Amino acid sequence: MPIRSHREDTMTVTYEERLRNFDWRLAADELGWHQGEPLNIGWHCTDRICARGLGGKPALLWEDFRGEERTYTFDDLRQLTNTFALWLEDLGVGPGERVCLFMDRVPELYIGFLGVLKMGAIVQPLFSAFGEDSLWTRLDNAGTCTIVTQQKHVRKVRKIVDRLPGLRHVVVVDADPSKPLKERETALDLHGLPRVDAYTVHPTGAETPSVLHYTSGTTGQPKGAQHVHMSILGQYLTAKWVLDLKEDDVYWCNADPGWVTGTSYGIIGPWANGVTQAVLDAGFNAEHWYRFIQKHRITVWYSAPTAIRLLMKEGADLVRRFDLSSLRHLCSVGEPLNAEAVVWSEQAFGRPFHDTFWQTETGCIVITNFPGMKVKPGSMGRPFPGIEAAVIDPKTGQEVEQGKVGVIALRPGWPSQIRTYWNNDAGFRAKHIGGWYVCGDQASIDKDGYYWFVGRDDDVINTGGHLVGPFEIESALLEHPAVAESAAVASPCALNMEVVKAFVTLKPGFVGDQDMELEIMNFIRKKLSPLAMPQRIEFIEQLPKTRSGKIIRRVLRAQEFGQPVGDLSTLMND
Ligand code: PRX
Repeated sequence: MPIRSHREDTMTVTYEERLRNFDWRLAADELGWHQGEPLNIGWHCTDRICARGLGGKPALLWEDFRGEERTYTFDDLRQLTNTFALWLEDLGVGPGERVCLFMDRVPELYIGFLGVLKMGAIVQPLFSAFGEDSLWTRLDNAGTCTIVTQQKHVRKVRKIVDRLPGLRHVVVVDADPSKPLKERETALDLHGLPRVDAYTVHPTGAETPSVLHYTSGTTGQPKGAQHVHMSILGQYLTAKWVLDLKEDDVYWCNADPGWVTGTSYGIIGPWANGVTQAVLDAGFNAEHWYRFIQKHRITVWYSAPTAIRLLMKEGADLVRRFDLSSLRHLCSVGEPLNAEAVVWSEQAFGRPFHDTFWQTETGCIVITNFPGMKVKPGSMGRPFPGIEAAVIDPKTGQEVEQGKVGVIALRPGWPSQIRTYWNNDAGFRAKHIGGWYVCGDQASIDKDGYYWFVGRDDDVINTGGHLVGPFEIESALLEHPAVAESAAVASPCALNMEVVKAFVTLKPGFVGDQDMELEIMNFIRKKLSPLAMPQRIEFIEQLPKTRSGKIIRRVLRAQEFGQPVGDLSTLMND
């Protein structure tokens, strides 16, 4: 298969030149894939890179919070993903079945992700901080047959396993021999197994489901965004052109693979490009982060506004104590990147963070500040070549005038877009109007074609770049014996942009005091996750409702943000 040089300098090719005659076939050509042939993300990120003579190159530079370090070459990755894939097959897992990865950012997570894809199953990564309810909802919806986890998280799985009859295996990658495993549980010592050098990758096609990421909307429980193997075309090319990855880069993505950034750009995009990536399995600590960049000579860094704001709080003087001269390109995603953060990063790191806008559903970056393009601080940039974007009126589906606010809409058809929501095609279709896929975000476009983010067009809460659905929180709140009704809304936060605030009415006989507030907060943290935990709870007598009894969250949200409440004439109990 023809292999093109990857060494051209993307900075010398302008956005306008990229736009001209753009065709996604370019990505297919560079990946050596032809329509109708099998296409497998696991193979492309490992075997193909080795076939290009890069087997001995480090693929993963891994470090954890204790300072333990490991390096895996692309050939290690190829063999270990083969080993993982074969082991799962021997366990009886079949193509198309859902395999959940419920782990911290340990090497087994990255290896397991590609291993599951190689054997043709669908990989379902879930954030390891999820509590039992969040976990159960997603495993139940996906009909997951196997969950791969760590000893420290198996306790949460045990609490729900009886309510998951389809879950055949609980695999523990670091089983402690002194702790006996229970029924359905199996130990996997991946590094202790003989490595599998030759493995026949399942012949998945371009449209074969690959990754299932759960994402929150306003209504109902989180939906399973169903990606297909063809997504690699978009992830490969956007990683190359937007993250500007080149073969000698050392790349660091801050995101956890429980979220889409951590898979599209923390696994698939960089490795499809044959790029070395560093992973730090540790929480936020500015000094630790800078030391990590210095030590590994990180060149390209993909981060998020909340992390940048945390770094800003620590000050630019701290930055100067480290040699961060290796950094040459910085990108950000997940929340609005405020102009101050862009200006600060210019001062602190000598380069601006480039904003990138996309979603779980889009699978790859769709609106961005292209390298070399003029950055307008505060703007998200312009559509990636091959992405037809617009700002439309959500009621009519018509494009709004330049400068006016509408919702971001994308013309379906790019390779990385999800094909549907798992078991909920109607939910996915409902996001389309007049031939557009509607993102649910408000924005305007300026005269130069730059997009300016305004806010969400629904009740979803974006806390530190993570979407949290009000319905999931409200459902969990109802499980608390004292809660009669509740509404979860976004409340402003200087650091996380938004945090969850819950308005709660209590059942008779319960008192809304500080103890009750703490008790409910803790209850949600354990059931869902620290992200979904309301940072504030306000006990009220009555929630604002429509005449038909539907709670109107927008009234409470507007109050939180000090915005006008709008037309209240439909309210029942005002
Ligand atoms: O509201 C937008 C916000 O995050 C949402 C997508 O979240 P999720 O599906 O979890 O994927 C996050 C990572 C791709 C969007 O609908 N968002 C994402 N990027 C930006 C953003 N908001 C403002 N500016 C961005 N650059």
